[in-house]
Amino acid sequence: MTTWSSIALVLGLGLLAVDAAAPWWQTASFYQIYPRSFKDSDGNGIGDLNGVTEKLEYLKEIGVTATWLSPFLRSPMADFGYDISDFKEVDPLFGTMEDFENMVARAKQLNVKIILDFVPNHSSDECDWFVRSAAGEEKYKDYYIWHPGFVENGVRKPPSNWVSVFRGSAWEWHEGRQEYYLHQFHKKQPDFNFRNPVVREEMNNVLRFWLEKGVDGFRVDAIYHAFEIEADENGNYPDEPRNDWTNDPDEYGYTHKIYTVDQPETPHLVYEWREILDQFQEDNGGEERILMVETWSPIEIVMHYYGNETAEGAQIPFNFQLIVNLNENSDAYHYEYLINNWLSQMPSGKSANWVIGNHDKNRVGSRFGADRIDLFNILLLTLPGCSITYQGEELGMLDGYVSWEDTVDPQACNGYEENYMWNSRDPARTPMHWTNGKLAGFTSGSGTWLPVAQDYAERNVQTERGAPLSHLNVYKRLQQLRQEPSIQQGAAEIKAVNGYVLAVERYLSGNYVYISLLNIFDHIENVNLNDVFRGLPDSFQYALVTDKSIKQLGDKVSSSSVTLMPHECVVLRSTTTI
Ligand code: GLC
Repeated sequence: MTTWSSIALVLGLGLLAVDAAAPWWQTASFYQIYPRSFKDSDGNGIGDLNGVTEKLEYLKEIGVTATWLSPFLRSPMADFGYDISDFKEVDPLFGTMEDFENMVARAKQLNVKIILDFVPNHSSDECDWFVRSAAGEEKYKDYYIWHPGFVENGVRKPPSNWVSVFRGSAWEWHEGRQEYYLHQFHKKQPDFNFRNPVVREEMNNVLRFWLEKGVDGFRVDAIYHAFEIEADENGNYPDEPRNDWTNDPDEYGYTHKIYTVDQPETPHLVYEWREILDQFQEDNGGEERILMVETWSPIEIVMHYYGNETAEGAQIPFNFQLIVNLNENSDAYHYEYLINNWLSQMPSGKSANWVIGNHDKNRVGSRFGADRIDLFNILLLTLPGCSITYQGEELGMLDGYVSWEDTVDPQACNGYEENYMWNSRDPARTPMHWTNGKLAGFTSGSGTWLPVAQDYAERNVQTERGAPLSHLNVYKRLQQLRQEPSIQQGAAEIKAVNGYVLAVERYLSGNYVYISLLNIFDHIENVNLNDVFRGLPDSFQYALVTDKSIKQLGDKVSSSSVTLMPHECVVLRSTTTI
């Protein structure tokens, strides 16, 4: 085994072992909180910071070591907090700065790291900077991207054909300034002009402000939109070429995004921010402050966010490969390819991360089938690197039903009733299920901002705590296993045993070998693990079973013959160390 692993390491076969003294984030279990829907402490039906503080112990209970929170800063809520009007203030809906400070203090006591959502691409149109920019005030004039557009036959036209992610032109006419401004998202989310050094400095100061307040890092929102192509010598912007995906010019997919995302300057912004974080650590001590960046770019581009020859980048450029490329029909070879592809494309010395859901995507159980909920939790928590769980996925929450009348997500509301379900992000944002009681124990009030999903009585923290093989208990067991040296620091090999079964081997000299075995489909499979892994011990035992298993925890099994029931996913542990 040792020989094979060292050969594989040399060949760069996706094996990697983590240093025992690795920084905290490398093997952290991150948990994304969407504060509006996590826990309401004051009965108004909307989650808040005191609600988060109240539930920090729950994060401890489920083995989470760090949480990133979607925005809770001052906002008119056109995009539910992703439209910030004051980057240094807590929105009263979520509480006060004191509530924030209490939350951070409690998190520190519990040793749960707090990661803030940093939204640099745009502000709200109600942000003071935008109001002043629109008024043409000298200092703020170029904080955003402005253009007068063109007049053709007496009709005013936008500067280019760029389309907004939330439908329609990305340019909005401003009566006051008599110019268009760019907004890649909602028209209430004007894009900053990052070619303006003053804007860069403003945003750098936002980072410093929250570092001073004690946060452990930032999740950077929509970074790949930060730059657009520079205007030409006449100050104009080129049209993007047509895509053949749709004939609807208002749909985001109408154009091929060559000028509005993934511009070469963008990763350098992240390098600049990393310097600020490192400098802060140097000046103030403490553990490493981190950046997690959101970019839905091709993998080759994502890798630039890790850094380059001369600069450090984000510790965690989100790995969305499993979200983007897998669907319910994907076979084990596809999983194997995607996982190993990330590991082998990662620059040397960098660390992996695994994401399968967030507040913008349908729930895992709704995308891949409720029978695969444990599968993804096992996969994310036993792969090498850090895992990122979206709130409620540990319970196996499914998409909640939100009628057209109740829909509030701008991405859906800007479209049509016929297909709003395809665009709406509301179903994944329904309130967290704490109990089987009224309104799932989310609020003491009489209503909730989005309806509580109908199946809450079955899938909730209280009920699942009491069911030995509930998703919640499987998740907790996984977190215990995650403490094992082989899974914390060991090498990894990821192999499809056949088209149906994926296997993840974790091993470290002097320790037990762990194998996660995932039966993706609904037939019984019998596998010989020696077909895919060399030098395995012969005898294993069940270290984790799920409600699909007929075996019990601790049952023995030979590596040459493991039978998996339909959709069964287990973790095996060798009976001897290696
Ligand atoms: C990111 C967020 C999403 C938001 C958008 C604009 O993609 O995850 O929720 O709407 O950026 O800020």
